[in-house]
Amino acid sequence: MKPIVFNNTVLRDGHQSLAATRMTTAQMLPVAPTLDGLGFGALETWGGATIDSCLRYLNENPFDRLDKLKAAAPRTPHMMLLRGQNIVQYTSFPDDVVEAFVRCSAKHGMDIFRIFDALNDPRNLTTAIRTVKAAGKHAQGAICYTTSPVHTPANLTALADELVALECDSICIKDMAGLLSPRIAYDLVKSIKARHKIPVIVHSHETAGLALASYMAAIDAGADAVDTSITPFANGTGQPDTVRMQAALAGHPRACLYSPKVLFELRQYFEGVAVELAKFMSPANDRVDSDALCYQVPGGMLSNFRTQLVEMKMTDRFNEVMAEIPVVREALGWIPLVTPTSQIVGTQAMLNVKFGRWKNLAQASIDIALGKYGRPPGVVSPEVLALARKQSGQDLVTCRPADLLAPRMPKLREELAAKGLAVTDENAVLFAMFPRETEVFYKPKPAAAPAPITVTSAAPAAPAAPAAAKPASAGSTPPFAVSTGKTARYSLTVNERRYDATVEILN
Ligand code: CO
Repeated sequence: MKPIVFNNTVLRDGHQSLAATRMTTAQMLPVAPTLDGLGFGALETWGGATIDSCLRYLNENPFDRLDKLKAAAPRTPHMMLLRGQNIVQYTSFPDDVVEAFVRCSAKHGMDIFRIFDALNDPRNLTTAIRTVKAAGKHAQGAICYTTSPVHTPANLTALADELVALECDSICIKDMAGLLSPRIAYDLVKSIKARHKIPVIVHSHETAGLALASYMAAIDAGADAVDTSITPFANGTGQPDTVRMQAALAGHPRACLYSPKVLFELRQYFEGVAVELAKFMSPANDRVDSDALCYQVPGGMLSNFRTQLVEMKMTDRFNEVMAEIPVVREALGWIPLVTPTSQIVGTQAMLNVKFGRWKNLAQASIDIALGKYGRPPGVVSPEVLALARKQSGQDLVTCRPADLLAPRMPKLREELAAKGLAVTDENAVLFAMFPRETEVFYKPKPAAAPAPITVTSAAPAAPAAPAAAKPASAGSTPPFAVSTGKTARYSLTVNERRYDATVEILN
């Protein structure tokens, strides 16, 4: 029996799940050669939320990050997460933008494209898969796992058949919420492996404490690889830690051996990075979250949800809203709860509780019902479909949703030129997804001079401090004098980046 292969996610999902995607390229590069030398099946280094985070928070060009990581870790294949027609955003893009993005990523060295769609509609994956194959790279079709009457091993195996028919090179079972149980993992892997020769990879999260056990079962069933990470960017809402997973396999006929000594050194290194990223990390992410299982709702969604209920003054109706979630999911065809559908379902559940069931249908719920996001996995309730038609005056979308989108690349190139930005495909695809962030990124910034600060404030007469270089950092003295009130809220603009700050008056 072949030893199981580990992919390593510490440079992407590890810090995305546990440190708000804030790890910088500078924090990655010192250990990239060490990671490269361990012999992992793949290093997940890019995609998902990292591209957004590079531009929005880290002042990094995402393609430069990929170039640097490829140069520092040239031996192990690099892997990225691609949201099908959504690329790395939340809305659909026309085919020509998806194609340009994939071609650019391939050109900068991306090897394995893990491609998924929140609704598991294969039509939302076709363009990406075709372009990856045409670029001579590895297309991994991902199946989003969730719990529902239609997400059965039989139905998900049928989806794997479709992905194989689209010429995917491998299949990933993507358990983004950590809901996959060991027995279902076993059945699913067994049933896919019985029908197809291609590799099956399992990706899970330790959110509810099930991932390690599910990996064990998947390995017994013949999975080819599993995704692990490195503590402290592992376990909890992230992937199981590599050392821990390896220890669990001791005595197993498929046990693997990645140097424990080197992994220990890496862990020591990443402990230091975690100290630097401490303000983005929370002990709540490390806790086994049984609420996620009890409500069948991903952990991340639950915490957002509690905030939203406070805003809507509905905290006393938490249990009612939770009970309404499965009702909404079922009515919208049992859509999985993963961005962006988790927000859509959550909002509709709140509206149903507040105003009465289906009395107030959100636009996004209408769009889901009408098939604008793709084909939902189950049947949309006839009542909701009729309401959606009536409220929108539109009919069901039966074609591939992206067929309704006109090409955008020529227009994007014009827009770049008009803004004085270099007209490259890289810039065009970044600008398509993150127009404001891309423009700000390329704005010339003064090298050594203190950053100019402009203050727009609801508070009266808050003069800008001329030489305060760190406007929003915790613990620094507020750069303006405010004489009354308990707190004052400011919006600071530094190098055209906006920071919202609340200043507390202590005396
Ligand atoms: Co993940």
